[in-house]
Amino acid sequence: TWTTENVVEEQVALIRAQVGTRRAICGLSGGVDSAVAAALVHKAIGDRLTCVYVDHGLMRKGETEQVEKDFVAATGVRLKVVDASERFLAALAGVSDPEQKRKIIGREFIRVFEQAQAEIVAEAPGDEPVEFLVQGTLYPDVVESGGGTGTANIKSHHNVGGLPDDLQFELVEPLRKLFKDEVRMVGQELGLPEEIVHRQPFPGPGLGIRIVGEVTRERLDLLREADAIAREELTAAGLDRDIWQCPVVLLADVRSVGVQGDGRTYGHPIVLRPVSSEDAMTADWSRLPYDVLARISTRITNEVKDVNRVVLDVTSKPPGTIEWE
Ligand code: XMP
Repeated sequence: TWTTENVVEEQVALIRAQVGTRRAICGLSGGVDSAVAAALVHKAIGDRLTCVYVDHGLMRKGETEQVEKDFVAATGVRLKVVDASERFLAALAGVSDPEQKRKIIGREFIRVFEQAQAEIVAEAPGDEPVEFLVQGTLYPDVVESGGGTGTANIKSHHNVGGLPDDLQFELVEPLRKLFKDEVRMVGQELGLPEEIVHRQPFPGPGLGIRIVGEVTRERLDLLREADAIAREELTAAGLDRDIWQCPVVLLADVRSVGVQGDGRTYGHPIVLRPVSSEDAMTADWSRLPYDVLARISTRITNEVKDVNRVVLDVTSKPPGTIEWE
């Protein structure tokens, strides 16, 4: 029978059998999946796991701080934080194609993990080798990246189809057969705090796939502001548990004419993409209250420079995907 207790027990045994006495690193993204994967592996192999949080510069406001504080406080796991924003932005310069962005981000993640691996080994050279990379890959990620049987490749999720061919790590993916709601239950079973267990999904490639067009530092700053406003208002309205997630997307290559004060503007649109879903495989657009939408729109156009229009995405999945890229 399927119980979270059984899943935890079974996975802990499998992880121990796979890793043996060697060491592992785990990429933490701030999301539920990597947090639960890390907690499972930590339970199995203790301090032979080091978590690596890569700040790729594509994070939302406050995300890095949350990982540094909440997750470490909850699990006592060893954490290494790497500021890699320069490197990711340099690699993404001039790139607009969504699949290319995903591949680049996946590749850079691995390069950073390899560096972290070398540093961890250098810190304690006598210990067992660091040979494993833990990832919070879920069943839907596998299916939608073309890893399942009979499905088309929809997107290269950064941790599945986005991996480089010359990967130096053996992967540990204890959540590969689970759906998101099951992962949340496992997280609860492992004693992770509510804020982590019920966090809305956020993709590994971060804001990099929410800028339609080239990713630049200025565009990221602008999108980060708009996203923070939307999240603030949704939380204030008590809607966090009603929606699955709400991507906020910047159409960086689109401009439209507007008027502000007594002058003409020529700015970018921001798209709100609130969805409800059970497992992210299908989704419907959330019928958010008009007054909440109005507040978000007013605040974003008033407070975010160069944004003069807010539009609402009313497409289900399929035919739309949840993210725009
Ligand atoms: P789509 O856009 O395919 O998204 O409908 C389905 C769910 O997956 C998230 N997503 C990702 N998560 N790495 C992740 O960890 C990725 O590369 C990635 N791409 C999409 C998305 O936010 C949604 O919850």
